[in-house]
Amino acid sequence: MEPDVLISVKNLTRLYGKNKLAVKVLDVKDLEIRRGEFIALTGPSGCGKTTLLNLLGALDRPSGGDITFEGKKIFGRGEVSLCRFRREKIGFIFQAYHLIPTLSALKNVMAPAFPLGSGYKRRAMELLRQVGLAGKEGRRPDDLSGGEQQRVAIARALLLEPDLILADEPTGNLDSVNGRGIMDLLKKLNQRGKTVLVATHDQRLAEDCGRVIRLADGSIEEH
Ligand SMILES: Nc1ncnc2c1ncn2[C@@H]1O[C@H](COP(=O)(O)OP(=O)(O)O)[C@@H](O)[C@H]1O
Ligand SMILES: [Mg+2]
Repeated sequence: MEPDVLISVKNLTRLYGKNKLAVKVLDVKDLEIRRGEFIALTGPSGCGKTTLLNLLGALDRPSGGDITFEGKKIFGRGEVSLCRFRREKIGFIFQAYHLIPTLSALKNVMAPAFPLGSGYKRRAMELLRQVGLAGKEGRRPDDLSGGEQQRVAIARALLLEPDLILADEPTGNLDSVNGRGIMDLLKKLNQRGKTVLVATHDQRLAEDCGRVIRLADGSIEEH
């Protein structure tokens, strides 16, 4: 394996349902992601984008196959080790932001570090500044626009310096101007060295990425 390969996927499958009723919704034979890539994952609704992202981020377990991350298989281990893997290596951004409504923007960004104790306030403040939210640290999600909430979620994903950012239709709830702003932010992060994989069915946004992976019925289309 070449040293700049971050992720390697072989014969990864995910089935839903049991026995005769099982349906294979994902079947990825071969996929490599290199450190520093900016990849768009596209394809129609239901083609398996979320299923693949959830497996890459170890939020779900495969039915078959494994994912190698920095040369190590991720699924042959227990839940505690998987939890650490997610916390240390992956920054996840969801379409619906998933902020905690009762916490300020600042506390939301600090949330991934709650199990680790205090000491992340300065970093969280700096990240909020970087995503253009200086001065809004004390606001709760309800008092922020959709675009601003997604920026908080991006800052949160960056708190513990993940190697890989996985974004599942992060612009799906936003108008085109805000959606463009979020993509520009992801691009900036990529230019600063982060590996980014973003699921989108917006073809124009996808064309802006360094590489496009198209899924159809759970498999990667050859091109
Ligand atoms: N928990 C589940 N149980 C059964 N089927 C599911 C479940 N989650 C997703 N699916 C099915 O798997 C397929 C892929 O879904 P998904 O990964 O969410 O696609 P996408 O994100 O591209 O819209 C769809 O056919 C969907 O209905
Ligand atoms: Mg999806």
